[in-house]
Amino acid sequence: MPDGSLHFSSPRVRSAVPADAESIFKLIDSMTGDGTLLRRPLGEIRQQIGNFIVAETEEGEFLGCAALHRYGKHLAEIRSIAVRPEARGAGAGGLLLERLLQDIERTGTGCACLFTRIPGFFAHYGFHSVSPGSVPDKVAKDCIRCPRRTHCDEIAMTHGELPAYAPDILAAARQLVQLAG
Ligand SMILES: CC(C)(COP(=O)(O)OP(=O)(O)OC[C@H]1O[C@@H](n2cnc3c(N)ncnc32)[C@H](O)[C@@H]1OP(=O)(O)O)[C@@H](O)C(=O)NCCC(=O)NCCS
Repeated sequence: MPDGSLHFSSPRVRSAVPADAESIFKLIDSMTGDGTLLRRPLGEIRQQIGNFIVAETEEGEFLGCAALHRYGKHLAEIRSIAVRPEARGAGAGGLLLERLLQDIERTGTGCACLFTRIPGFFAHYGFHSVSPGSVPDKVAKDCIRCPRRTHCDEIAMTHGELPAYAPDILAAARQLVQLAG
């Protein structure tokens, strides 16, 4: 690890509680400038704290976070997964992702999705690239309002079986992101 790294033996993951909201907000906010993460207002994080998990040191120091957005039994989205720069490379990000995947499996959700610029990390955990229009729920929630939707630099990825959508829904989603796939 580079100088300035946090030193801790093994990170642990737990459900987020209201007292974590500010740390989560600051971490996510620090990564929105270049579009790495979508902005999440503090009020929204507080309101949706039950969807978040956090990683911390054995002493309880905040290391990172991740969240799940449930569209239904067919699909859930991994959101806002981030680890403090000085704590990266020590297993926290992998633990966060594995915990959300376990949750998805435990609840019988068929498929996980996400859009990312670092497909290698997620491929490591069994995600595959798909065309953005393959997940219309995500397109309708975020892409439709995104200024970069016609020149998106993110890779859409899924884990598990893609939900079956009606062909006209898929066609509409592909048209919205202007990417046939
Ligand atoms: C992505 C991120 C959460 C990973 O957190 P981390 O704590 O450094 O990850 P880990 O140390 O748990 O790494 C787990 C494994 O993934 C690999 N990995 C980590 N980052 C990777 C990347 N960018 N590309 C490919 N593999 C990666 C590690 O080598 C490790 O592999 P191993 O199990 O064989 O040792 C972190 O780099 C981060 O916060 N990035 C900025 C925010 C971001 O881009 N989030 C994704 C938005 S979609």
